[in-house]
Amino acid sequence: MAKMWEGLNEADTSAIADGFNSSIAVDHRMYREDINGSIAHARMLAKCGIIEPDECESLVAGLAGILSDIDSGKLPFDPNAEDIHMFVEQVLTERIGEIGKKLHTARSRNDQVALDLKLYLIEECRCIEGLLKSLVAELIKQAEENIEVIVPGYTHLQRAQPIFFSHHLMAYAMMFLRDIDRIRDCIKRMGSSPIGACALAGTTFDTDRKFEAGLLGFDSIALNSIDAVSDRDHCIELASDIAMISMHLSRLSEELVLWQSWEFKYIELSDAFTTGSSIMPQKKNPDMAELVRGKSGRIFGNLISLLVMLKGLPLAYNKDMQEDKEAIFDSIDTIDNCLKVFIPMIETMKVIPENMLKAAQGGFINATDLADYLVRKGLPFRSAYKISGQLVRECIETGQVLEKLPLEAYQAHCDLIEDDVYDAIDLKNCVERRISAGGTSKASVLAQIEYAKEAIA
Ligand code: ARG
Repeated sequence: MAKMWEGLNEADTSAIADGFNSSIAVDHRMYREDINGSIAHARMLAKCGIIEPDECESLVAGLAGILSDIDSGKLPFDPNAEDIHMFVEQVLTERIGEIGKKLHTARSRNDQVALDLKLYLIEECRCIEGLLKSLVAELIKQAEENIEVIVPGYTHLQRAQPIFFSHHLMAYAMMFLRDIDRIRDCIKRMGSSPIGACALAGTTFDTDRKFEAGLLGFDSIALNSIDAVSDRDHCIELASDIAMISMHLSRLSEELVLWQSWEFKYIELSDAFTTGSSIMPQKKNPDMAELVRGKSGRIFGNLISLLVMLKGLPLAYNKDMQEDKEAIFDSIDTIDNCLKVFIPMIETMKVIPENMLKAAQGGFINATDLADYLVRKGLPFRSAYKISGQLVRECIETGQVLEKLPLEAYQAHCDLIEDDVYDAIDLKNCVERRISAGGTSKASVLAQIEYAKEAIA
């Protein structure tokens, strides 16, 4: 096959090598960015007097035509093209003739691919940000609807202290708010344009990189041409941000799977987001949550692939870097799908407050409150802790709960205990009295909701 670089090489590359080298199957999705980048490049070349104004107009018209033909499906990608950059240039030259060959003045595919990828990733970041906002909005809605539903809070997956379910949900909202922050930060760092760095060393033409960057919406230009073409930090940063989102989704998925089980039955996921078994008629499996949990594996893998791909590369461009796109695109697609299934799954999730309360009534999760009560009566915390523990043991041995233990039994352990102990260990009171900032009290949860709403506004 004839090559753009024919001139030096006498023999053709083998078909096997062509296929191995080609990236169009992966990078064709950046066609819009590639074409818009080329339009900006033509305008810059004309502005700087490197090409004539009418040449610029033909290039721009030709490129715009290619864009609309790809958009409408009229122009299919040529699977034999080496990559999206070569494909667009090839079609352009076929369509407008010799002038098409002028477009590649004062640039290289090295700065071109760096540009395309940044433009593409910025758009994808905005989509992910939007999806994260929707997810936080659904978590807020569930928190509001279940604001005072009592559930055990856990440590070591052992019932620990009573909390409001809304508080638990808002913990996830906080994680996803940080994820939004990270994505915004990533967009910020992608804000410098690599185009004009050319192959690695800049160009002998008197170009205007700032002008071209401005046309494409960048607020600055990469200041070192070698760095501009060899930098994939933003790619890794985004892969890492996505890995973090995926890890958060996976933790929530794990809880949904537990909560959906008969052992917990805290929630009922909608039929729309569960599946039946091919053999067991009673099954309602949380497949979506399980899959989201499972997908984290490939997302973490993509991050590692990118780090390893880059770590040994000498400056500047190396073909290894072509591998960046498959990894980051897969992370983007996967997190996109995960978020798109998660948002309506949370929206349609039914909470079962009775089961949460029933669980909260077992496991002596008000034992800390009993100890706190004794501290208020004047005991040092360690002594209070010990008495509270002895009372729990007595309850276990006699099959009772702290709420129903007779006052005489309490007083046999500590004569400071009075009738007001029952109020102190009432589950609802236990939750409501955790008034410290960020605690589980209703006022605190409402403050969190307020904060989260503002953050996604
Ligand atoms: N398809 C290539 C990539 O994705 C484009 C850059 C090619 N540059 C080169 N010097 N071969 O990395």
